[in-house]
Amino acid sequence: MADLTRRRFLVGGTAAAGGLALAGCTTAAAPAELPPFDPGDWASVRAQFPLSREVRQFSAYVLATHPRPVADAIARHRAELDKDTHAYLGVQAGAEDAVRAAAAQYLGGRASDIALTDSTTMGLGLLYAGLRLTPGQQVLTTEHDFFSTHQALRMRGADVRRVRLYDDPAAASAEEIVARLRAGLTPATRVVAITWVHSVTGVKLPVRAIADAIAAHNAPLAPADRALLCVDAVHALGVEVATAADLGCDFLVSGTHKWLFGPRGTGIVWAREGAWAAADPVLPSFSGPAFGEWLNDAPPPPTTGELFTPGGYHSFEHRWAVADAFAFHRAIGRDRVAARTREQVDRLRAGLADLRQIRVRTPAAPELSAGLVCFDVDGATPDAVVARLHAKGIAATVTPYRERHVRVGPSIATADDDVDALLDVLRE
Ligand SMILES: Cc1ncc(COP(=O)(O)O)c(C=O)c1O
Repeated sequence: MADLTRRRFLVGGTAAAGGLALAGCTTAAAPAELPPFDPGDWASVRAQFPLSREVRQFSAYVLATHPRPVADAIARHRAELDKDTHAYLGVQAGAEDAVRAAAAQYLGGRASDIALTDSTTMGLGLLYAGLRLTPGQQVLTTEHDFFSTHQALRMRGADVRRVRLYDDPAAASAEEIVARLRAGLTPATRVVAITWVHSVTGVKLPVRAIADAIAAHNAPLAPADRALLCVDAVHALGVEVATAADLGCDFLVSGTHKWLFGPRGTGIVWAREGAWAAADPVLPSFSGPAFGEWLNDAPPPPTTGELFTPGGYHSFEHRWAVADAFAFHRAIGRDRVAARTREQVDRLRAGLADLRQIRVRTPAAPELSAGLVCFDVDGATPDAVVARLHAKGIAATVTPYRERHVRVGPSIATADDDVDALLDVLRE
């Protein structure tokens, strides 16, 4: 992907930015006054996002805009930090625990098993650097993961094996995915690194069935030889109903600044109870146990979510407001968020099915897809399509992979009329 410059990566194609200019769209600040938040009313939910109404926001999931309850929490913390930073740090001494508790309430598992990070990429980098591997142990990953997984494994210098889970994403089946993954396992596999929803195709993996297959593979192995299932969940967290605990994985890594619409620059690493015993912290945490180890020259304490959380001072106004993002989703209801997203995905797919020139790459079944829909248009490059959409005030992206498709993500920040407008442009 020689032409994938940093700018293209960040905006999903140079055409995107140019298209907006062509459309004459403004990027004017959102109105200062937003209507009150009524979690039962979709118009009110959508109104909490200060996004420009001059653009149909099908890329809102790429990096969150802050819905009002989250923005208010950030502003509150920022004002207090600005006023008397040191004192407010003391007042907020338990705030990270409150974020862990909110995350555990949403994801299942124990609050003490959740590490706080700045992004999915940071979480993956820390996890794949911190998992202990003995000589001869291998990592099994797939051809469909994002740069952050592959690069973190490469930088670790791990012995990595990759499998392809499907050839044609639109025709992918859960049975075939599980069978291909299972065929890649050997007694040397210590880590399985996968992605719940592939951001290159929109395919959602049957993670529970994969976890069950790995459990069967692990059964005769000694605990230190068992394969650990690690999942990049960033395109599922905040749109899927299943919790991390439901999935049966060992580690789940995610940013909280995509579909969850949490503060930008935040994320988590979740571990199943007991799983942290397989990993060592990579960066010193600013925690009591870590300072105790240092001050007393004591042996390292057992790894916990707190100890795996990188230390140093942070943009705490964002980190502390992660609790408010989980609360925002819980107030709306995770099943209602998932259903709302699915309704729009189905509406979009029904419209795309009538367009002869469109090849949808994402499977139709809800078991194999989430909020992302990837497609190609015969006779036009994905960049050209995205540029055209932007010229018409529709924000879409091109997948930042070797395999390039047009990618859109209906969400709680979009509505049926946005989907219809997208279809109208594609009909042209
Ligand atoms: C599957 C996947 N994982 C990770 C990331 C990176 O997420 P973050 O910005 O939270 O590091 C992306 C895209 O941004 C992605 O598509």
